[in-house]
Amino acid sequence: MEHKLEVAIVLAAGEGTRMKSTTPKVLHTLAGKTIIYHVLTQVNNLAPNEIRVVVGASRESVEGHIKDIYPNVKTVFQAQRNGTGHAVQLALADLKTKGTVLILAGDTPLLRSETLAEFIAVHKSSKYQASVLTSELPDPTGYGRILRDETGEIVAIIEERDASEEIKLIDEVNTGVYLFDIDALKSAVAKLDTNNSQGELYLTDVIAAINTGANGAAAILSNDFTETLGINDRAQLAECEAVMRDRINDTHMKAGVAILDPQTTWIETTVKLSSDVTILPGSLLTGTTTVATGATIGPRTTLHSVVVGAGAKIVESNCSDSEVGAGASVGPYSFLRAGTKLAANSKVGAFVEIKNSTVGESSKVPHLSYVGDATIGSGTNIGAAAVFVNYDGVEKHRTEIGNDVRIGSDTMLVAPVSIGDGAYTAAGSIITEDVPAGAIGVARAKQRNILGWVLRKRSGTKSAESAKKAGATETNEK
Ligand code: UD1
Ligand code: MG
Repeated sequence: MEHKLEVAIVLAAGEGTRMKSTTPKVLHTLAGKTIIYHVLTQVNNLAPNEIRVVVGASRESVEGHIKDIYPNVKTVFQAQRNGTGHAVQLALADLKTKGTVLILAGDTPLLRSETLAEFIAVHKSSKYQASVLTSELPDPTGYGRILRDETGEIVAIIEERDASEEIKLIDEVNTGVYLFDIDALKSAVAKLDTNNSQGELYLTDVIAAINTGANGAAAILSNDFTETLGINDRAQLAECEAVMRDRINDTHMKAGVAILDPQTTWIETTVKLSSDVTILPGSLLTGTTTVATGATIGPRTTLHSVVVGAGAKIVESNCSDSEVGAGASVGPYSFLRAGTKLAANSKVGAFVEIKNSTVGESSKVPHLSYVGDATIGSGTNIGAAAVFVNYDGVEKHRTEIGNDVRIGSDTMLVAPVSIGDGAYTAAGSIITEDVPAGAIGVARAKQRNILGWVLRKRSGTKSAESAKKAGATETNEK
């Protein structure tokens, strides 16, 4: 990093009451990661010597989460929320370091480290004691307004609640991102008062205070206002989700992924896609999902932590914690649950559910089946509506099926059971015993035809009439 940053302070003690949630605001998620994760990741990219987060509301859960994601981050407890100025007083209390401190809010997850680095560069090269990052918003309501003098220099930040009608017309707002010389900030926050409509210590008042000196304060306008959007309620969370979604999709498209309808394609930051992957409308890719080149996903498909091989195709399906081999075909309407492994060129078709099972190379489970706790060899076909009966009501058991097996339609495989290589089962069989290689397992009642039954028992019906025309008689029972 060209311009070194000594300290970063993230303010996250607020209650987030406008979220109307039992989850603390900064622990709500965006593209699969918490709001505070996004903020800390960008701050961490700047490699400051020290990062401090001020926590307050829901302290235990927020601290616990931060420890999990960034153990290098120190938390400072603000027991009573007396304002952003008070939060900064606490964060600075035992800080010995000199140099520059970056301050930002824990609820602005769209800021990018590149933008922050540029902000630091401008601040450091012009040797200001304080800089505030500003942006021009289409609707500035709710934000602190930037008051500039006739020469364009910042004079003060006026909070919405304390603003006159005239000041409310200003569309340049405080993004809540600041850079300060640590010593200048320390002396300025010590002098803050609560002389405002909320009776709080406002960090924003520091700007006016520092401004009176030489090389005072600067307001630096950012060129992408979407980066500085803050989250205070669910609508803003959804707005930020959409910005994040577009960013992620743009990155993938630039890397060669075809996304037919970016507005209905939701991909978490953790997902990895190769070039020449195609994502069709209405798809959701989450967790540690990776998709290899040439694969097609969707439409309307959900993949959570699924590894998809090259050239595979997954149509209108829901899959999680599974592997889909190269050239395999899944769907429409397939449900792959945890532990499913489909080998290369295998096929899983409509209304098939698979759990904790391996399907071998080029094997097929094409229609209406449940496969649970099974190993299926290669070149095997599972007939329509076969059910792997894995649960005896108390315990789960496994089914082993060899290579080039033909399981007849509507076979029940009552586990534990194994079917040898090249074996068959007759359609409609309830298989409770192993079938050796090359055998056919037949387990069903022998068929009996009762001749003339319809003419005797259903006389006068259309069926009886048609049967009579076809030569059936009442008496020809055999
Ligand atoms: C603040 C700014 C406003 C700016 C806006 C940008 C002040 C007085 N106002 O307003 O100029 O336009 O951010 O989003 O700073 N926090 C604490 N302890 C406290 C109070 C707040 O840690 O005692 C934290 C909050 O958790 C939040 C951040 O500071 O992350 C900002 O507080 P918030 O209440 O959201 O301030 P805004 O009204 O948004
Ligand atoms: Mg806010």
